[in-house]
Amino acid sequence: MKAEDLKALLDDMSMEEKIMQLVQLPGWEYEKDAAVTGIAEGGVSEKAKQLAGSTLGLYGADKIMEIQKKYIENHPHHIPLLFMLDVIHGHKTVFPCPLGQGATFEPEVARKGAEIQAKEASADGVQVTFSPMGDLVRDARWGRVVESTGEDPYLNGRMVEAMVKGYQGDDISDNEHIAACVKHFAAYGGAEAGRDYNNVELSEQTIREQYLPAYAKGIDAGAKLVMTSFNTLNGLPSSGNKWLMRDILRKEMGFDGVLISDWGAIGEMVPWGFAEDLKEAAGLAMEAGVDIDMCTEAYGSNLEELIGNGTISKEMLDEAVLRVLTLKNELGLFENPYHGASKEQFEKICLSDESREVARDAVRKSLVLLENDEETLPLKGKKIAIIGPYASEKNMQSSWAISGSPETSVTIMEAVGESDDVKLFLNLESAKAAPADGKTIVCIAKGSTILDDGTVTGMRVYENENFDEENDKLINEAVEAAEWADEVILCLGEHFEQSGESTSRAEIGLPFIQMELFYEVQNVAKKLVTLVFTGRPLDLDTIPELSDAVMICWRPGTEGGHGIWDVLTGKCSPSGKLPMSFPWVVGQEPIHYNAYSTGRPKPLEGPGSFTTRYLDVPNEARYPFGFGLTYSEFEISEVNLDKTELSRASADDKITATAKVTNTGKVEATQTVQLYIRDLVGTRVRPVKELKGFEKVTLKAGESAEVSFDITEDMLQFWTIENCFESEPGKFKVFIGFDSTTDNSAEFMLM
Ligand code: NOJ
Repeated sequence: MKAEDLKALLDDMSMEEKIMQLVQLPGWEYEKDAAVTGIAEGGVSEKAKQLAGSTLGLYGADKIMEIQKKYIENHPHHIPLLFMLDVIHGHKTVFPCPLGQGATFEPEVARKGAEIQAKEASADGVQVTFSPMGDLVRDARWGRVVESTGEDPYLNGRMVEAMVKGYQGDDISDNEHIAACVKHFAAYGGAEAGRDYNNVELSEQTIREQYLPAYAKGIDAGAKLVMTSFNTLNGLPSSGNKWLMRDILRKEMGFDGVLISDWGAIGEMVPWGFAEDLKEAAGLAMEAGVDIDMCTEAYGSNLEELIGNGTISKEMLDEAVLRVLTLKNELGLFENPYHGASKEQFEKICLSDESREVARDAVRKSLVLLENDEETLPLKGKKIAIIGPYASEKNMQSSWAISGSPETSVTIMEAVGESDDVKLFLNLESAKAAPADGKTIVCIAKGSTILDDGTVTGMRVYENENFDEENDKLINEAVEAAEWADEVILCLGEHFEQSGESTSRAEIGLPFIQMELFYEVQNVAKKLVTLVFTGRPLDLDTIPELSDAVMICWRPGTEGGHGIWDVLTGKCSPSGKLPMSFPWVVGQEPIHYNAYSTGRPKPLEGPGSFTTRYLDVPNEARYPFGFGLTYSEFEISEVNLDKTELSRASADDKITATAKVTNTGKVEATQTVQLYIRDLVGTRVRPVKELKGFEKVTLKAGESAEVSFDITEDMLQFWTIENCFESEPGKFKVFIGFDSTTDNSAEFMLM
């Protein structure tokens, strides 16, 4: 539809029709009564269902087409309904969770994944995804870190940008793409004490330098929607924060797409004590520029009155409605209200071999090797015990892969079973009886349940009447298998409902039963490789000291088993790097590498040292941001700068920083070379390091490559004392290395 036709349509709509374009209803309202007749029991009115502009949570081509057909017939202007869904790290083919994708340090992995997710979701009737999440995360207690790509604004920005491009392609009207929604604007990840939905208190400097850049990257990449966050930011709930939405998002960032509230967030201004009732909340949200009210009655029940009494202008309403209609138009819904929905296409492409291969590659690249004593990995033994609740666990996705089906995933056990050179046994007796024919013998033992009895997860309380009995038996079997084996792979991890929304944890260790299993197995294992499935950085306790190798597998998704087995067996070397610091203990949280120096920096140690320190643990992370081993060894040369002065006056000026990277080990591997910069003196204090670039290099044993990064003035800007982004003349340090602790550096002057 042409812009003028869209405007004419808007002018022809009744006030009620307009208001209802701004109302989003939960999908179940349409599901329980797809015929759109009568008042659904306990639900919303028939009228609301006929007029609401969008819905969320539905998928299934036939179902959506049927709902859409009837909806359009009943709508006075035959305006199509918009279908939205949380496709976060996979629709049917589930990719590693976003935190795992962050660990790849490869935006192309995120882009390709998003492209496949869009293709599958679109064929299944979805038109908008509530992804990517651009929230910066620094506190591992917050369960939603699993949905983020980590603690660094630059890395997050690159990933968010890539995901938006993958979901949306060049044109969202084409049937293989869907609209992306950058969320949760803003600073949702800064929740005090890591408790979900909690307040966020941040200085403007921190908001602007650390928290906003990733969202901005998504908006620059053309994201069609933005979602408000649940938190208050410095005392203001986001959905009613005019400064944040109108001044920053709309004016400064130039966002002209649809701003949608998070679920119920407009209504939550009432318990916050920011609005007296839903009516006032509706007015505040409209004034802040929130176009769609997700699942409250605030807009539907109050906007007419607020417009009638002049609180909200008709122009403001029209602007919001036009944005929603424009999105529908950009999706091509006026010409084809079903967009990509096609059962035939869905069945053809869903979980295709090609998609699985892309997911498998993403898994391999996401795995982070933390320890590998005496080259324990790749596996070498002829008798291997794969033990632990994740040895054969189907659910390796996160709680936000709501449309993915764990039964379609490949477990580690299944991946092992596909190998020609392996004989797989589900019990030790058969493994022991296997004839020696040169093949590797693998025995599986579950070892323990995932959760402790009585554990509270995001959705339920895990209760198991036979907990002790069941686990005694499982642990005994596991110990016997471990005694028999040359090598043990112990597959431990969080339950999928221990990270995600509303899953904050004050203790971030593994379940006790799994630690018990760990100690029992470790006691007898000749070589112990511990794999950790997790949606957040964990307190790894004694696992690193007592294991020969440790690898973080995140929530790897559908192809988890394949990707992990590929790496364990050395088909490829691990290359993932931590996108979030792993602490020694939870008391260090929130912890992040890009912190400020303090007036009392270390290194003075010991009693009487009045420096910034804990008495009982180091300041530093146990495993820092950017860290991850490979199966090889790498060396890096000093940093070489082509010149040591950069001019602020000339926009084209640049310094090229180069370092030579050499694979000094025995096998081909990929290293992620990271560029960090420190501004040594500023009108506001500057972080000790900031990631400004990265490049992955794959080198054969003995091979070298030069890696160069251009440094330009815009990379040196920050929120100065003048309250604007600017660079300041002076000395800078450039670091090039393999993780955020590198001190391989050189200095230059900005003139
Ligand atoms: C609440 C979550 O905070 C948000 O991330 C999600 O997209 C919406 N619900 C819709 O499901």
